[in-house]
Amino acid sequence: MLDELRSQYGPMVGFGGGPMRVAVVGDPAALRELFGTPTGSFRWGHKFNVLGFVVGEGSMIVSDGPDHKRRRSSVQAAFSRRRLNGWIPTIVERTDAAVDVLVSALDGPARVELSSFGRSLVLDIVVRALFGERMAARAPEIGSLFQRPQDYLESPAIRQLPHPFPGTRRARVRADRKALDAIIDGEIANRRASPTGDALDVLEALAADGGLSDAEIRDQVVTLLGAGYDTTSATLAWMLWCAALSPGLWQRLRSEADEVYGPIRSTSDFDESTLARLDLANRTMRETTRLHPAGVISPREAAVDLTIGGYRIPKGTLILWSAHLAGRDPAAWANPLDFDPDRFIDPPDERRALADIAWVPFGRGARNCIGFALAQMEPTLIIARLAQRLDVQAVTLQKPRPVGMVVNRPSGGTPMLVSARAC
Ligand code: HEM
Repeated sequence: MLDELRSQYGPMVGFGGGPMRVAVVGDPAALRELFGTPTGSFRWGHKFNVLGFVVGEGSMIVSDGPDHKRRRSSVQAAFSRRRLNGWIPTIVERTDAAVDVLVSALDGPARVELSSFGRSLVLDIVVRALFGERMAARAPEIGSLFQRPQDYLESPAIRQLPHPFPGTRRARVRADRKALDAIIDGEIANRRASPTGDALDVLEALAADGGLSDAEIRDQVVTLLGAGYDTTSATLAWMLWCAALSPGLWQRLRSEADEVYGPIRSTSDFDESTLARLDLANRTMRETTRLHPAGVISPREAAVDLTIGGYRIPKGTLILWSAHLAGRDPAAWANPLDFDPDRFIDPPDERRALADIAWVPFGRGARNCIGFALAQMEPTLIIARLAQRLDVQAVTLQKPRPVGMVVNRPSGGTPMLVSARAC
């Protein structure tokens, strides 16, 4: 729909009327203006934001003003550079563990649904990062409690209208969220009673920080799970498609990983320099998120009358800014629909500046993605390790259609012919 809108009307489109006015903003220069506008000119806790029902009304993602600032800064402190770098060996180690299980079940090349493989792996990593090692065994339970709320967010808007009726889908989502709350509340109480001392555990850092109430901590943790799990696994799924369909790329990723990771062995000395040297894997992630950002549109409401990109946007308009449109903008990118990770190597100056403002899969400014560093490092480290350990072949030459309003993922998953690396 976004592509059709652009081909008919351009990258800035307004429609609707009365209480429901919508502005789609996909022009890179207009996006730069949008991200540079003070956050007080927008509202995230607006009437169209259905996320609050799932992540909780105390979540930063549906908060504004001083509440947002306080909640975000507590979480930001927990996502310190030191903690992020500490997760690097864990990400590779967990990828190895998942590959070991996968390979042990294979007897020669077999069709494997790599989306499901990637989802379990990413969930395992996110649960360890948020709650520490001791909750790792409960990752599948947490994942299944999250599934229904996430599916609900993807259901038609009419189904998401608030109501208190029991026995409905909304009631079941409420029950799942309650069960999830009980797990998280228990963990917060545990941390308060006896801190684990795990320097990498985000929940422990939030509990020790003192800036948030327990209910606020719980809503931020549910937000981080929700924002970090589906988005990153969808990105990994698209990366696998792009890498498998791009001639020679899997081999190039493998050669780089062999050089950087070395032979399969202990991962304990992997650190930020390991990540920095995975240049092709990083460009593959960048190129994939340019073409297939996990969020094709992100909503915010105009809290005042605005002018963006020369267009007047009245107060109350729902603004849908689009990383998808900017990532395919023909003025910013040469052959925008081609998948080419090498386009990020020394682009000409006039393209560099445009490309910088047109690559916005994680947003920009004061409301950008708080997990952007983790979200980039995870699929980069994982794809490199997968290329090193697996032979992967796409079962069709056609990239799947995208599906998902909240999280953009390949329809039909990621079925691939997979075997342990032959040579
Ligand atoms: C590929 C993966 C991801 C993508 C593409 C992505 C994308 C985004 C985008 C575009 C926004 C900004 C929306 C806006 O302007 O309103 C955002 C916000 C956010 N993201 Fe991510 N994200 C990803 C992964 C993660 C991870 C791993 C976490 C944390 C574990 C995370 C946590 C958040 C949070 C908490 C916000 C809200 C920030 C705020 O309201 O101040 N995201 N994300």
